[in-house]
Amino acid sequence: MPIPREGDIDGEPVQTLAIIGLGYVGLPLAARAVECGLEVYGVDSAERVIDGLMAGKSHVDDIDDDDVARMLARGFRPVHATDPLPRADAYVICVPTPLSEDGGPDLTAIRAAGHSIATALTPGALVVLESTSYPGTTETVLRLILESSGLRAGPDFHLAFSPERIDPGRASHPFGRVPKVVGGLTPACRDAAVDLYARLVDTVVTTRGLREAEMAKLIENTYRHVNIALVNELARFCDLLDIDIWDAISAAESKPFGFQRFDPGPGVGGHCIPIDPNYLSHYVEAETGEQFRFVHLAQEINAGMPAYVASRIERMLTERDRTLKGARVLLIGITYKADVADARETPAMPLAEVLVNGGASVLIHDPLLPEWSAGETPTTLVPDLEEALALCDIAVLLQVHSCLDVDLIAREAPLLLDTRGRIAREAPRIERL
Ligand SMILES: NC(=O)c1ccc[n+]([C@@H]2O[C@H](COP(=O)([O-])OP(=O)(O)OC[C@H]3O[C@@H](n4cnc5c(N)ncnc54)[C@H](O)[C@@H]3O)[C@@H](O)[C@H]2O)c1
Repeated sequence: MPIPREGDIDGEPVQTLAIIGLGYVGLPLAARAVECGLEVYGVDSAERVIDGLMAGKSHVDDIDDDDVARMLARGFRPVHATDPLPRADAYVICVPTPLSEDGGPDLTAIRAAGHSIATALTPGALVVLESTSYPGTTETVLRLILESSGLRAGPDFHLAFSPERIDPGRASHPFGRVPKVVGGLTPACRDAAVDLYARLVDTVVTTRGLREAEMAKLIENTYRHVNIALVNELARFCDLLDIDIWDAISAAESKPFGFQRFDPGPGVGGHCIPIDPNYLSHYVEAETGEQFRFVHLAQEINAGMPAYVASRIERMLTERDRTLKGARVLLIGITYKADVADARETPAMPLAEVLVNGGASVLIHDPLLPEWSAGETPTTLVPDLEEALALCDIAVLLQVHSCLDVDLIAREAPLLLDTRGRIAREAPRIERL
């Protein structure tokens, strides 16, 4: 059979889809694709993920066990990454892109996924990268690996990038309603990816090429990172100037245009906001030799928030003739965001470390985390909130899950620092960031 040339690659619609990496991004994508009638293979390198899914268990907040049961009933097939990759019409890569030890991009998982796809790739197939990375990754890293199959991207198979915009825990924006950005190596690659995503979401937005789609994701997350840093720095100054930052932000928010609200907090966490801007600054600096000052400043300010929160805790204790040394500090809400059982990169970790180094003992309460440890830092998990409040000298509200009894916290905490601006400062024992 002759190998098809660019523009006339087999134009049959995608029927089988293999998703590589079934985490917070890959599993909801698989659920949506199954729901939309595609035959879906889900591949993961973690045995517990595949074994759990085969047994009907979800490991991701936004997908429950009933969703997994429905997926399996409709033919969803979980596959161990050590097994041969099934042939599919399209492959979507949703593997992690952490930072390496030197703070640069770690593309190990993307490379591994690419090598695996190269073993199964057939003419006319579509490969899409969804993992966040620096501009150029799809073309200069993934493309070369896929082409080790002997097929060429463009003439023989389609190659595209489509950033994921999933926001774990946000039920207000279901998968199909969030526009999907798509960029292709060639116009035909772009169109093939558009055809796939148009079956999954209402709106597909195309870019000129791969780099623009890769850059779009980094702009979104850097925008959040920088604006969170701005309000965090404002919060510190407002405290010194005796201005209620929360009241001021709410007033500013009444402007119907030109302002988007961002809230201060104890620092940023999760897989994206503290990491993705580094991908951008690393790329900009490697390509241009110039410093991306905004990203560095935002990084410095946000990374400094846990120590700042610790200094506010110490000040509240000192004002009452107590010391941090020997105090029992209760941290409430450990995950990096509300209503998500994900503690990756949580600022609670460095905060606990600063407090313990200052001589405090740290109690932890988070109804979403049955277990959690702050690495080498000793902490005590107290599952019952009332008991935890009775045991502590000061409570710190870090994350407001909707299942948390905020009134109980406000009533029972001997001293309370609210880093989320959710509790009224009705008593002198209560402070907000
Ligand atoms: N979590 C989010 O909110 C979010 C949002 C947008 C974009 N992203 C980006 O999407 C990508 C995935 O993030 P995530 O949060 O889903 O990560 P995750 O850690 O939740 O899931 C990744 C999964 O990939 C698996 N995996 C790792 N290497 C593999 C390999 N070689 N083959 C098969 N499976 C492999 C892991 O076992 C894991 O289950 C990252 O680049 C991230 O930056 C994440």
